[in-house]
Amino acid sequence: MVQQLPDKVDNWQELENKLFMRTVNRLPVTLVCGEGSNVWDSTGKEYLDFVAGWAVNSLGHCHPVVSKALIDQGQVLIQTSNQFYTIPQIKLAELLIHNSCFNRVFLCNSGTEANEAAVKLVRRYGKLHLNGAHYIITTHGSFHGRTLAMVAATGQNRHQEPYIPLPGGFINVDYNDINAIKEATTDQTCAIMIEPIQGEGGVNVANNDYVNEIRVWCDQKGILLIFDEIQTGVGRTGTLFNYQQYDIEPDVMTLAKGLGSGVPIGALLAKEKASVFSPGEHGSTFGGNPLVCAVSFAALEYIIDNNIPEKVHEIGHYFVNGLDKLKEKYDFIVEIRGRGLLLALVFKNDIAEDIMISCLNRGLLINRVRPNAIRFMPSLTVTKDEIDKALKIVEDALNERL
Ligand SMILES: Cc1ncc(COP(=O)(O)O)c(C=O)c1O
Repeated sequence: MVQQLPDKVDNWQELENKLFMRTVNRLPVTLVCGEGSNVWDSTGKEYLDFVAGWAVNSLGHCHPVVSKALIDQGQVLIQTSNQFYTIPQIKLAELLIHNSCFNRVFLCNSGTEANEAAVKLVRRYGKLHLNGAHYIITTHGSFHGRTLAMVAATGQNRHQEPYIPLPGGFINVDYNDINAIKEATTDQTCAIMIEPIQGEGGVNVANNDYVNEIRVWCDQKGILLIFDEIQTGVGRTGTLFNYQQYDIEPDVMTLAKGLGSGVPIGALLAKEKASVFSPGEHGSTFGGNPLVCAVSFAALEYIIDNNIPEKVHEIGHYFVNGLDKLKEKYDFIVEIRGRGLLLALVFKNDIAEDIMISCLNRGLLINRVRPNAIRFMPSLTVTKDEIDKALKIVEDALNERL
């Protein structure tokens, strides 16, 4: 007999507890709607959202441009096979290529998938141009996604250990250490993959010399450089792409998160010389579908036309100034890390969880990125007023520690 769902659910969290695999420890809040930098829970409580769907809602919640594109395209064409041409994906590709140093795009549905595609691409390159070289050097503290290959790429033991044995072909070395990369490079290496800022690893910024030296090393060895800009891309750090803050261009870049401003999309971009896939060698059923591409195009066009990256640069400084004042006041704050609107406040001790919960109770959503660090990744359209409010709530939470 088919069991009916109850008409009225009194406790969604209890129901979730019965139904879901335990992959995440959710916070005790059921979000029901959002607008701009604000979200509301099922009890009507309002929160200032400085998590923004995990650095996803670039234009905030339900921005009119995003909602309109979703509705308009939803009434016309939602999904087709990639055997056919569709216009929204071509418009999106053109916008991405026109505003970056890359020549070609592959569209998919998530960050992990974009990185998988990148890894397949550079392995293909290795087969075609580097005598079958297929090893990829990645860094400790990185995060590249959740598939088995991306877990192997991700240089964090806690993600790898439960799934050993992992697929081969990845070497994890220390971040911001060019010698570690040089020592790990062999004639079997086809690429180096880095996040210019390690987001999940604690908002660790790659220094200029390191990035420049990696570029030179890749050129010397004839191997490819992949930038995972899934978290740093699309204006988040104060330029459209974070590589633009360095003096180099990667050969390959991956995007996701903010690219869709709330809808699931991933993108792999590459220079012409690295675009070595042949028909049938890679693909995706949903990747590049008209619905998601129309939304992503509308959001990206808005971000570019309204100089949002420049505004992020400016407001990011404003935010850092506020955090600096907190650092001057509280001796248990040791560091502020990040760029633009991807920022972390680092503490002497492991108090990040307590600070996060205290902020949550006071109506501010933030992320505990490390036991001793909290992360802020609000929408790119966050206002100074909202930053002031957030800083006040963080300060109140910090005062509890005195
Ligand atoms: C740098 C980076 N790469 C890859 C991923 C994985 O993306 P997704 O969760 O969309 O698969 C993430 C997610 O946090 C990320 O921050």
